[in-house]
Amino acid sequence: MANQDDKLKLVISHAKEYGFVFPSSEIYDGLSATYDYGQLGAELKQNIRNYWWTAMTRMHQNIVGIDAAIFMHPTTWKASGHVDAFNDPLIDNKDSKKRYRADVLLEDYMAKSQAKISREIDKAKARFGDAFDEEKFRATNPNVLRAQEKINAVQAKMKAALEASDLEALKYLIDECEIADPETGSRNWTEVRQFNLMFKTEMGAVSGEAGIIYLRPETAQGIFVNFLNVQKSGRMKIPFGIAQVGKAFRNEIIARQFIFRMREFEQMEMQFFVKPGTEMEWYNYWKDTRIKWHKALGLGEENYKFHDHIKLAHYANAACDIEFNFPMGFKELEGIHSRTDFDLSSHEKFSGKKLRYFDPESNESYVPFVIETSIGLDRMFLAVLAASYKEEKLDDGSERTVLAIPAALAPVKVAVLPLVKKDGLPEKAKEIVDMLKLDFNLQYDDKDAIGRRYRRQDAIGTPFCVTIDNETLNDNCVTIRERDSMKQERVEIAKLPEIIRGKVGMQGLF
Ligand code: GAP
Repeated sequence: MANQDDKLKLVISHAKEYGFVFPSSEIYDGLSATYDYGQLGAELKQNIRNYWWTAMTRMHQNIVGIDAAIFMHPTTWKASGHVDAFNDPLIDNKDSKKRYRADVLLEDYMAKSQAKISREIDKAKARFGDAFDEEKFRATNPNVLRAQEKINAVQAKMKAALEASDLEALKYLIDECEIADPETGSRNWTEVRQFNLMFKTEMGAVSGEAGIIYLRPETAQGIFVNFLNVQKSGRMKIPFGIAQVGKAFRNEIIARQFIFRMREFEQMEMQFFVKPGTEMEWYNYWKDTRIKWHKALGLGEENYKFHDHIKLAHYANAACDIEFNFPMGFKELEGIHSRTDFDLSSHEKFSGKKLRYFDPESNESYVPFVIETSIGLDRMFLAVLAASYKEEKLDDGSERTVLAIPAALAPVKVAVLPLVKKDGLPEKAKEIVDMLKLDFNLQYDDKDAIGRRYRRQDAIGTPFCVTIDNETLNDNCVTIRERDSMKQERVEIAKLPEIIRGKVGMQGLF
């Protein structure tokens, strides 16, 4: 299998070749950091969305889903802090004219030192074998200690600079670490500047500042402004949650790495409203619940880790990311944030409307605190696709490319394949198609040799292939082949729905 860099390239080209993801408006050479989902991508995305929606709403009696508008009253974004604080600190290299996020340059610098530490540990592990004590090694090895001290110092300075929005201090730190342009090696930097990430447009016929509205940079605010509508109309009792899936837009500066960072993307967010003082208990509950949701997919437990935020967002009193081991390394997949009462209180202030909950048990009225879980649907798509992509050497010396997508998420659940295109086999196969098509997304394929058809289905991640042969006409049995094990079994046609459902249903995930 290819190295990490090459793996991302392989995944991108596989995604295009098989109709998962295309560059947006490709006939015009594409539009940077925007992508279109093709015929299989749209199915996979829908299945991921469904898995999340089911986990949030059906599996929690006290969580309901909404679908708010993308356009919101512009004051929303004043109240949320996005107009004033949704900025990235940017720095330009004067020689290469390339623009970077100052914090990302520093994060990458620290990641390199971290990689050095991991190499030292791996070397020592190989040398000492079972006798190796990693904790002791970390506490005593001079190289590791030096690298860790350096990381800690940079991290502390970066945190202080970001929290104080001290752009000069950030620039000073970049110079102090002698960070060079990753592409050209030049250290000829401009000052650091703030850049707001919201897209603006104009509403109706009103021109100028008065008509400016924003494309929402997060779906969460659509939930906050509807807090009371949902609570009252649904007679919701705290603690309760509101979930939403929808598009969000950010004018990202560094938009690269395929669908990992896009300018138009989809978020799946849930705001959980709790009594003030109980938020840490719920923060831990959601950390635990969300990591279980991820791990249930079987993409490898070792591919997830928590990362506590160094710099808390303006609204949070605790925050962490669930990071996934993407082809580019461990990166943020989902955020879990304890947002205090910041948003509701701020909307109260800016709207002049009370956004409080009357607690019938304690007879008091308060602004609830909020725990938020927020995951990018496109990032989740990339995580599933990248972790599922495998090139395998088979026992007979041949090779296959297979997408071992968790069966419940697979875009096509079953392929129906008549062995030959004659002798009544296609007709029998079409009867099976009719029997299964309402319950399962399926493909019918009668072209090429059966081996090549299996390979095509492996490449798009179809969990089952059902083959109809001459014997089928006599015994009403078919051969069912399982994607990962490639095992084949003869089964009665009547049993197919049950067998397929057993593997591709969501029951296995919950
Ligand atoms: N409401 C909180 C919020 O929006 P965030 O950490 O900025 O928090 C949440 O975003 C999630 O949205 C991220 O963990 C990521 O999965 C996804 N996301 C953010 N920016 C993205 C982008 N430019 N492209 C794709 N996904 C993105």
